[in-house]
Amino acid sequence: MTHLRILVSGISGGLGQALAARATTHPNWELVGLARRPQGFEIEMDVTWSERRILQALSGIGPIDALVCLHGADIVSAPMRQAPFLERLQVLYEVDVAGTVKLLRATLPLMKPGAPIVVMGWDQATLGVSGEAGELYALAKGALTSYAKSFAAGHLNQVTVYIVAPGWVMTRWGQSLSPQRRARIASRTRSGHWQTADEVAQVVETLLSLPPTVVTGQVIYVNRGDVMPS
Ligand SMILES: NC(=O)c1ccc[n+]([C@@H]2O[C@H](COP(=O)([O-])OP(=O)(O)OC[C@H]3O[C@@H](n4cnc5c(N)ncnc54)[C@H](OP(=O)(O)O)[C@@H]3O)[C@@H](O)[C@H]2O)c1
Repeated sequence: MTHLRILVSGISGGLGQALAARATTHPNWELVGLARRPQGFEIEMDVTWSERRILQALSGIGPIDALVCLHGADIVSAPMRQAPFLERLQVLYEVDVAGTVKLLRATLPLMKPGAPIVVMGWDQATLGVSGEAGELYALAKGALTSYAKSFAAGHLNQVTVYIVAPGWVMTRWGQSLSPQRRARIASRTRSGHWQTADEVAQVVETLLSLPPTVVTGQVIYVNRGDVMPS
């Protein structure tokens, strides 16, 4: 089995921990985590750092076989949920958009030909969602999705880009809600269920094993068919 070195941002989050758990079933996988507050062997990184500082943090890590960007700003929990609209937009831009752009640019020279890159979109990003949080996430995830598609087109023979776009996933924010609110959100979905972090991690796991550049620049919706954007 080929050894796979997979660089993962957002390793401390719900999806990051789910992917780390799946990695234990792959003896040939080596996850190299990026974390703002390393707890063990992760590399310290805040994706809002300057491009130069990010490059410094990654210097000397050697070649990598895959990049999975699971970082993302939380603008729906306290204290950010009370911040002015444009402040929340700025945070989403700095973390989800510019943070991912910097990571892709910094890691491109470290990648082997065809290496998979996973970035995180949102299944409703292009649907028109009412409410401030919907507007903000649509702005950020829509921008990131467009960028990732262009990055895929511009580096066809270098990397394979997947945009994973989940619906509601039970991670930190979902777990912080009351059972009633969780049930209300689930009842608004077609399936009546939240995704589990492990379900999304399984999709990422599958994408990492596909042959290079067969599918690139595509959005993969992970939402039990809740919404199916064209
Ligand atoms: N959960 C959902 O319903 C859902 C739906 C659609 C898309 N997504 C996307 O999926 C991704 C993972 O979501 P999740 O549910 O696992 O979120 P989560 O549990 O809130 O985890 C977010 C992760 O991002 C990291 N992070 C935040 N700001 C950062 C920064 N400035 N620099 C570096 N890392 C930073 C966090 O690190 P700390 O531990 O330091 O805070 C944490 O590891 C995100 O991009 C999210 O937008 C999630």
